[in-house]
Amino acid sequence: MQTVTVDLGPRSYPIHIGSGLLAESSLWTPHLGNGQVMLVTNTVLAPRYLAPVHAALGDWRVETLILPDGEATKTLATAERIWDALLAARCGRDATLIALGGGVIGDLTGFAAACYQRGIDFIQMPTTLLAQVDSSVGGKTGVNHPRGKNMIGAFHQPRCVIADLDTLRTLPERELRAGLAEVIKYGLIADAPFFDWLETNLDALLDRDSRALTHAIAVSCRTKAAIVAADERESGVRALLNLGHTFGHAIETGMGYGAWLHGEAVATGMLMAADLSARLGQLAPAEADRIQALLTRAGLPVQAPASLDAGRFLELMAVDKKVQAGQLRLVLLRGIGQGELRADVDSRPLRVLLEQFPRGP
Ligand code: NAD
Ligand code: GLY
Repeated sequence: MQTVTVDLGPRSYPIHIGSGLLAESSLWTPHLGNGQVMLVTNTVLAPRYLAPVHAALGDWRVETLILPDGEATKTLATAERIWDALLAARCGRDATLIALGGGVIGDLTGFAAACYQRGIDFIQMPTTLLAQVDSSVGGKTGVNHPRGKNMIGAFHQPRCVIADLDTLRTLPERELRAGLAEVIKYGLIADAPFFDWLETNLDALLDRDSRALTHAIAVSCRTKAAIVAADERESGVRALLNLGHTFGHAIETGMGYGAWLHGEAVATGMLMAADLSARLGQLAPAEADRIQALLTRAGLPVQAPASLDAGRFLELMAVDKKVQAGQLRLVLLRGIGQGELRADVDSRPLRVLLEQFPRGP
């Protein structure tokens, strides 16, 4: 097992990464407090992973809420279902929520925890690669709004993160590949040697080799933990974690939530950011080619959807959370391993990129 700490003073917490951790109650029951426990999961995960967690909880008084699957579930209406269940079970401020699932369950449950009685504890048990390397770490919680992805939310850190590698065995192939997009992101924004390592070890990751996965998850979490510790509320460096997300969120919202997986949209978005960086002369075209090659090998989309023209992209991108005083801020690259937040990108090269970037189905 590897443990990475997110260092946030009194709100610091461990991320445990390894096999069989859902059943390792000594790792996470100390973070449950004294009150009731409510497990939130979905219809896909409940039959597979509720049993070991329930068994580990022994005599604990546990409520379980099983939600529908999918990105379309990440709404305020579903958060209300969690609050209803907490109230029906007479849960107080000492209750703890456990999010057992991917980023959808984690974001939603974390948001419900942030708001219930002005904030209760929660634990993340991420079961997708994407959630293990990104969404379960750092305290961003929230739900989607029809007009924009993750537009309603709160910062609320978990008490601990339990990343059980065994859960990745049942993850559909497409979801594994989508998670790899966020793994590649860490190499691109901050860690050139890790990008090199990914080029060498991508096949092992696609084969779900435990050693390769443990290394990739631990390196990703270490980078994310350092960035979050430096800038918890995203007033600066944390924005780098959004490489590809301004374009990606436009794709997700424009295509309807769930049509493109988050990681797929981020992959295309990262390539759009690399292409723009190259057009602006700050990224060598050969490096943009390496990025495209790695994303392609990972089976991720490298073309934007044909149905989103430049005008529609710009309209959707204007809703991005990084917009300040009407100015779009974009994460670009100065090289592999060197992300950069820019607020001064001229609208002309951006429009040219959006018009000329390759389109697929
Ligand atoms: P997800 O939660 O929808 O899970 C993907 C699919 O895999 C679902 O159908 C799920 O039921 C299934 N699944 C999950 N674990 C499984 C397993 N072990 N075996 C079999 N099936 C399994 O999607 P995701 O990619 O985990 O998360 C995407 C969400 O995360 C998006 O809403 C995105 O906005 C959010 N996100 C949040 C942050 C953050 O910092 N909070 C960061 C990145 C992404
Ligand atoms: N996924 C972006 C962040 O956590 O800041």
